[in-house]
Amino acid sequence: MPYENIMFELNEGVALVTFNRPKVLNALNEKTLSEVAEVIECARNDLNMRVLVFTGAGEKAFVAGADIAEFPKMNPLQALLFAEKGQAVFAALERLPIPVIACVNGFALGGGCEFAMSCDFIYASDKAKFGQPEINLGIVPGFGGTQRLSRLVGRAKAKELCMTGEMIDAREAKELGLVAKIFPADQLLEETMKVAKLLANRSRVALRAIKQLVDCGADVDLASGCMLEREAFSVCFASQDAKEGIAAFLEKRKAKFNGTFSN
Ligand code: COA
Repeated sequence: MPYENIMFELNEGVALVTFNRPKVLNALNEKTLSEVAEVIECARNDLNMRVLVFTGAGEKAFVAGADIAEFPKMNPLQALLFAEKGQAVFAALERLPIPVIACVNGFALGGGCEFAMSCDFIYASDKAKFGQPEINLGIVPGFGGTQRLSRLVGRAKAKELCMTGEMIDAREAKELGLVAKIFPADQLLEETMKVAKLLANRSRVALRAIKQLVDCGADVDLASGCMLEREAFSVCFASQDAKEGIAAFLEKRKAKFNGTFSN
């Protein structure tokens, strides 16, 4: 798959996607969004892709936002179409049935922060910085930032961050629940890949269910969420992975999951 703005590698079930426009701090333009959409489509269809990891090229940035150089030529309709495209790509990422990890190695601002929030969880370097600075340009976030940030950190903090455009460091982002773990910059990718490889060897059926339960459960009442959970719990018992995982525990050996429903 030849890409212009991203790099793609697939090893042992883990796809590593690197935003690769370091000269502009990996800013997201239309082309990059289209390339990410292609990767998402492949991930949906290719059973060899079991985990996706996103990171940024260069020392400074994960993604420093949408590409501001494309803004001056946009009229309101083109801005709407751009936001629609970004939101559709990020929603497709969120709906992928496999784990997606954001490995945030530097600035994750605007669309970069919004992208990271659309992943299942964020591992950040101790040098990472997060923020929604669109207010400094006289605009608002357009790729779901006001919505996902408020769901993750609460409405008041989301409003404060979006209204001030303030950048926060990895430690504050972790305190807010935005970041799952922080690693020293030189260990971030290696530590993220360790977890990604671990997940690549887990039950695909169970991982998919966990992702859907947590995401769908966030929008329903507790009783409905628990009903979805017990249905998924029951469905897992039809999987070869559950038979293997339970047998392996009882036989005191390591489980070998293959991610199918076959008997
Ligand atoms: N879109 C387009 N270009 C961007 C960009 C973006 N979102 N973010 C950075 N760049 C470009 C800069 O214009 C600069 O290009 P140049 O070398 O041709 O001048 C290059 O990336 C390096 O950025 P620079 O501003 O010189 O680095 P810095 O370390 O001084 O500052 C930031 C880093 C992230 C604080 C600063 O680049 C910034 O504020 N970026 C915009 C963030 C933003 O508003 N994002 C939301 C967009 S909706």
